[in-house]
Amino acid sequence: MIPMNKLEELEKKVTASPLPKHIAIIMDGNGRWAKMHKQKRIFGHKAGVDALRRVVEIAGDINLEYLTVYAFSTENWGRSKTEVNYLLKLIMDSLNKEIEELRKNNVNIRFIGSEKELSANYNKKVIETCKKSWDNDGLKFNIAMNYGSRREIFEAFLKMHSEIEKGKLSIGEMDEDTISNYLYTANMPDPELIIRTSGEQRLSNFLIWQSAYAEFWFTNTLWPDFSKEEFLQAIADFQTRERRFGKR
Ligand code: FPP
Repeated sequence: MIPMNKLEELEKKVTASPLPKHIAIIMDGNGRWAKMHKQKRIFGHKAGVDALRRVVEIAGDINLEYLTVYAFSTENWGRSKTEVNYLLKLIMDSLNKEIEELRKNNVNIRFIGSEKELSANYNKKVIETCKKSWDNDGLKFNIAMNYGSRREIFEAFLKMHSEIEKGKLSIGEMDEDTISNYLYTANMPDPELIIRTSGEQRLSNFLIWQSAYAEFWFTNTLWPDFSKEEFLQAIADFQTRERRFGKR
């Protein structure tokens, strides 16, 4: 018999136990990776897309329900104009390039984040392209684009306020779930596992409300080097955690 390779073994192991319903990833370290390879930062982002492709592939293979990745934050506008423009273009180009493959693989893709700073044309193109995958019932893949948790919560408050004024929502009937349902992640389960690469250990304004009970998994690996195997290792580690949700 051909011995199973390490990846297949790990895949078999993690799929034998319940998977986290929703995994969110802070893809960090592209700039440092580029520096290590004596290249410009944008080279790191390009390699980051390849790492993301690997992760989406394995997420689909193991039948993960939800995957959310932090692609561009509301704070990222503070980077150089060249880097910001490169990232905006890279994200749009990657979406266009991959949509057919994603569609064929039953992935349902959507962008979550604020539309505010992005051009009307950019927002329109994103929706038009993502829509091609919305009949799919496999992996729900969210790209957090121009995303910031505080912005998300603020925008939720504005929407709730407007609905209260119109009489569509009443304060007396509101609870914590009401707030969840006004976030970009409405109707999605909260992330159960949050992965951050590159050795940094913070949330950086990512899914703050939703991560109240998330498990965290940090690795020193820089995002472009993040492998399918390490993704499965993070899940295997999650499966060993005892989650008490504040109870005994
Ligand atoms: C953080 O690394 C990474 C980003 C801000 C961009 C991540 C984007 C991608 C990997 C492309 C995603 C593409 C699609 C299609 C969603 P950093 O630049 O902060 O690295 P550093 O901390 O080493 O400088």
